[in-house]
Amino acid sequence: MVTQSSSTTHATNGNPPRDTLTITDNRTGKAYELPITDGTLRAMDLRQIRTDAEDFGLMTYDPAFMNTASTRSSITYIDGDKGILRYRGYPIEQLAERSNYLETAYLILFGELPSEAQYKEWEYKIIHHTFLHEKIKMLMQAFRYDARPMGMFISTIAALSTFYPEALQVNDPPTRMKQIVRLIAKVPTIAAFSYRHSRGLPYVYPDNELSYTGNLFRMLDMMTQSKYEPDPVKTRALDILFVLHADHEQNCGTNAMRAIGSSRVDPYSAMAGAAAALYGPLHGGANEEVLKMLKLIGNVKNVPAFIEKVKKGEGRLMGFGHRVYKNYDPRAKIIKHTADQVFHVTGVNPLLEIALELERIALQDEYFVSRKLYPNVDFYSGLIYQAMGFPVSFFPVLFAIPRTAGWLAQWVEMVEDPDQKIARPRQIYTGYGLRNFVPMYARGTDT
Ligand code: ACO
Repeated sequence: MVTQSSSTTHATNGNPPRDTLTITDNRTGKAYELPITDGTLRAMDLRQIRTDAEDFGLMTYDPAFMNTASTRSSITYIDGDKGILRYRGYPIEQLAERSNYLETAYLILFGELPSEAQYKEWEYKIIHHTFLHEKIKMLMQAFRYDARPMGMFISTIAALSTFYPEALQVNDPPTRMKQIVRLIAKVPTIAAFSYRHSRGLPYVYPDNELSYTGNLFRMLDMMTQSKYEPDPVKTRALDILFVLHADHEQNCGTNAMRAIGSSRVDPYSAMAGAAAALYGPLHGGANEEVLKMLKLIGNVKNVPAFIEKVKKGEGRLMGFGHRVYKNYDPRAKIIKHTADQVFHVTGVNPLLEIALELERIALQDEYFVSRKLYPNVDFYSGLIYQAMGFPVSFFPVLFAIPRTAGWLAQWVEMVEDPDQKIARPRQIYTGYGLRNFVPMYARGTDT
């Protein structure tokens, strides 16, 4: 049982407070004083707590990393209780309003906003690495006609490693930077080719005259026009969505990027793994699930019955809840506002009415209030993507494009961090003790 002391004097036995934790091991009666740094204990400090010389030492058990910091990081700050998200100290609201994706990607990667000259050089480099090797294109063409775009995206990212074998030199900063530029530049092209493929359309090559998102729209939409003019409202809205999705500290996909990268594999292979993690319905695949859910509900009048089902444990309210945010996800707020601007151009998504009613009821309902379940980034993003004309199967790809900046920044931070080693958790073994092999004839029959 954990006992707590209510008085500071008692807790410190009259001594001045120290940044330490004293643990008494009741198995042995021994006491240990462990340092507390940044509100954290080092799990390895527990190893000295042993019953005897044979004992392995104390470990922590933390499935799903519920209370474990796996790294020190200076990239993204989240206060989930207050609904705060900042990249390198800058509030997400200011970046969404005043920055653009490429500038934000620079900030995330290099730690500072670029000067005008730095930005121009950065933009030039990205724009001049957007083309794919023709063999990559051919590789993509080999997918089944109805292949899901995210499956193509993940596989193609992995395949890039075979085209850039020098990428294995992960400890060499200039080589790392070259792969970073390539990945940020090429993901929109890979994304667009995967989309065109799933629609049976010819692939459209990049246009270096357009902005990052303008070029993406062109590669997605271009048909027979002699000159393609991207819609400025849609282009800006997608750019804002990209800013919002650029990083989100140690989420499932980023953790995969760091864990895979910790083996010192090339960044293409690591990023393919990160994108695969993002694909799941509890992570980046959630906005697709939101739309499926809204369609299933079908009508505003069915919302209360649906909420009751969720409360009975028959399914989840997709797009609600977050491991970190126990308040309104600040990205969801910005997306809701951006949606209004997009719907002005595209017409209102008929599912919006159902979404608004779900949000209204859920935010008043004791079940959701007591569990601090609020709309997350995925609740409204799917509605915007759908209004822009994208099929749901393309949504995770639209998430992966901007998250590339975050994955790569986190990967560099991990590679350069002297505290990091190959990521390798421990386990509590729950299986049999030693057993001797039994030949098949002696195993009995399975009746
Ligand atoms: N609908 C209904 N109940 C929920 C939901 C939900 N969306 N999310 C959590 N709960 C309930 C759980 O049933 C649990 O209730 P209990 O205490 O009575 O058992 C409680 O809230 C805590 O839930 P956990 O699953 O323990 O929370 P966790 O932090 O593990 O899960 C997650 C976070 C996966 C995001 C969860 O909220 C969820 O499944 N949401 C729906 C999927 C979704 O929108 N994912 C996108 C997240 S954002 C992103 O990845 C980009």
